[in-house]
Amino acid sequence: MLVASGLVKHYGGVTALDGVGIDLRAGEVHAVVGENGAGKSTLVKIISGVVRPEGGTIELDGARVRFSDARQAASQGVAIVSQELMTYDDLTVLENLFPYGAPRRGGLVSAREMRRLAQPVLDELGLDPPPHVRTGELPLADRQLLEICRALLQDPRVLILDEPTSALPRDAAARLAAVTRRLAGRGLAVLYISHFLEEVMRVATRVTVLRDGKVVLPGAPAADVGLDFLVTAMLGQPARDAAPPAAVPHRPSGTAVSLTGVTVPGRLRSVSLAAAGGEIVGLAGLQGSGHLAVLDAVCGRARPSAGEVRLPNGRSPRSARHAVTEGVAYISGDRKGRGLMLDKPLWENITSVSWLGQGRGGSMPRRARLIERAHGHLERLRIRGDVRARAGELSGGNQQKAVLAKWLDAAPSVLALDDPTRGVDVGARGELHGIVRDLASAGRVVLIASTDLAELVELCHRVLVFQHGRVVDTLDGDRLTEPELSLAMNAGFADPAL
Ligand SMILES: Nc1ncnc2c1ncn2[C@@H]1O[C@H](COP(=O)(O)OP(=O)(O)OP(=O)(O)O)[C@@H](O)[C@H]1O
Ligand SMILES: [Mg+2]
Repeated sequence: MLVASGLVKHYGGVTALDGVGIDLRAGEVHAVVGENGAGKSTLVKIISGVVRPEGGTIELDGARVRFSDARQAASQGVAIVSQELMTYDDLTVLENLFPYGAPRRGGLVSAREMRRLAQPVLDELGLDPPPHVRTGELPLADRQLLEICRALLQDPRVLILDEPTSALPRDAAARLAAVTRRLAGRGLAVLYISHFLEEVMRVATRVTVLRDGKVVLPGAPAADVGLDFLVTAMLGQPARDAAPPAAVPHRPSGTAVSLTGVTVPGRLRSVSLAAAGGEIVGLAGLQGSGHLAVLDAVCGRARPSAGEVRLPNGRSPRSARHAVTEGVAYISGDRKGRGLMLDKPLWENITSVSWLGQGRGGSMPRRARLIERAHGHLERLRIRGDVRARAGELSGGNQQKAVLAKWLDAAPSVLALDDPTRGVDVGARGELHGIVRDLASAGRVVLIASTDLAELVELCHRVLVFQHGRVVDTLDGDRLTEPELSLAMNAGFADPAL
């Protein structure tokens, strides 16, 4: 249905795509995988008219097309859900769904009409957002689903999903996978990008692998390729053996972070917990269960109405900024919102926090020294990008690594992680996990929430499960498995307030 061939794209000295082709067929889910920076997003941005290639052609049903922007692509039936979320945070949910003009009645935008058109698609995705809420207030997962909903409302023939499940909890991701297959079953051509390779294998009809801007495996039937083969094709070498789960011998060194009777209105109810230096503690729960409020309280982003939060130095975080100066690093997979200054060079981003931490007074380190320091982080985390390039020019996964680099540079005593490897490729995910383990064995405290349960099981010494703003279970040792975790999160513990 859609055939792209010989696509070439450079960004300055970087070759993002070097003669890449792909064919999308009606009724198929065609997955594209590759390391961070391999060129996946560039490919789909070209197909959907967001980016102009320097060379190559695109044919839709045999006719050559050249889209000048995403809107034009949409009008010809090519819809894209991009990796970086593009919701308009100040608009309501319904307004967000009709970016190219809301349905009108008698000249007026009709909320009822919007609702009528949107409802079947919302239902199919299992999304039930309050229609008048500002989109910016919704959790990341809902915003991600909302974008997919918006694309489907354009009634596309070609649907492009660039990491659609990176922010989704497992059940929502599974639902989306089912929807994706169903859409293909109705004759859509779907292009699907994801770093969750098992998910790719379940959803895809065919797989294309990109490496360094080139196709190294063109549209192979998914049934014919195994996971190991795929990883080897992506990395150009077999994956190094993953570090054994929770390999860090856990030598707790007293209580380092504690919550005592902490209540955050509407989110946490009189929660007490403690984490020791050297410990990696997981926080799990369904949306709104309170696990993320713990991170917020530790990072000074949520003020308890009762109770007390203590950091390793005995102080309580008074504000987000204060928490940073007290050595708390908050790393979120929601890069766009909280991570980086996209217009600023990478080195400035990476060295920005330690600045805050060192406080005023100290003399400004020389620029050349900062650049050198940032460069060291780039190498250590294998970030693909120039230290002087604007952070916004990095690929999504490399931006996420940059967020981590920036906090590592600040040598934090507490790591508060929320989906830290969202959108990060398998190779880098393992590296980041290794770094987290190293920090823990150096006596740091790590608190981690993740929609990726495998990540919690691999990394944590124990996982606290939250429901209704309380800890309802703690998993460790033999009980710390994905099925147990999922069960504990979903089990119907009675709401103590009911
Ligand atoms: N706007 C831009 N300006 C400069 N360089 C860019 C820009 N967009 C992408 N690049 C570069 O092009 C290369 C390919 O990036 P792309 O976003 O396509 O990777 P990707 O495969 O989608 O990676 P990820 O898995 O991290 O999302 C990277 O080296 C990236 O830094
Ligand atoms: Mg990308």
